[in-house]
Amino acid sequence: MKNLKKIGVFDSGLGGLMIANAIRAKLPSYDYVYMGDTLHLPYGRRSDQAIYDLTEKAMRYLFSQGCDLIIVACNTASAAALRKLQQGFLAREFPENRILGVIVPTLEVAIEHGAHKIGMLATQRTVHSNIFETELQKINPAVEMKSIAAPLLVPMIEEGGEKYLDMILEDYLQPLREAKVESIIIGCTHYIAVKDRIRRLMDNKADLISQDDIIPMKLEDYLKRHPEMEERLSKDGTFEIHATDTNENFQRNVDELMGQKSALKQASY
Ligand code: DGL
Repeated sequence: MKNLKKIGVFDSGLGGLMIANAIRAKLPSYDYVYMGDTLHLPYGRRSDQAIYDLTEKAMRYLFSQGCDLIIVACNTASAAALRKLQQGFLAREFPENRILGVIVPTLEVAIEHGAHKIGMLATQRTVHSNIFETELQKINPAVEMKSIAAPLLVPMIEEGGEKYLDMILEDYLQPLREAKVESIIIGCTHYIAVKDRIRRLMDNKADLISQDDIIPMKLEDYLKRHPEMEERLSKDGTFEIHATDTNENFQRNVDELMGQKSALKQASY
């Protein structure tokens, strides 16, 4: 059977929806299933093992929904689980399917932009994993990186607390200012919602590297390089949103982000 498979985009909650939306805007013909693990958000303070287990379950769910290609949009899940998923779970159980992460593509673009000192904001788990630094070492060891954990941002963004953010962001950005970084990687999907605020607080002096700009372009490139996967994908232009807890908060946030009332599907597994 041909042309039946969808693209899955996974995140712990709302943030990845901004990436999924940007992907759809660039590549509108494909069919997408967005999956937010709202029941277990936030991932940022969990252990590697817990994040791995949750992410593997989400991958199984998305495969069961006909997504042969999944983008793990969540940086925290990419940091804690991606390599193990690709080398163990995927190779063993779903060798024909693909799971892609966001960290290496983000670093590639940051380096292309030419910065010598890069700042990064992410969750505690992502920062403590040193994954961005480890991957950067492999790509260009001459580039320096300063990473800051910004744990208060996710709950504030999920709970609509944006108006209190400037003070907190000032605190997180101060070490990046002192380090005189030229670029800042938005290393958590949720923070995309406050990227303009970050740009303003940095007096428009830092080049912001944001995954909603990067991942659509990288996916397009991936599909060109992998016609065997591209040919498997259905092209009816649909976009479904699934979540492990379709609560009112999430519904409200989704509707606001999508600019319209959106149907949510309860993901049970
Ligand atoms: N969306 C996740 C990321 O990109 C973080 C949010 C969370 O802590 O669950 O890292």
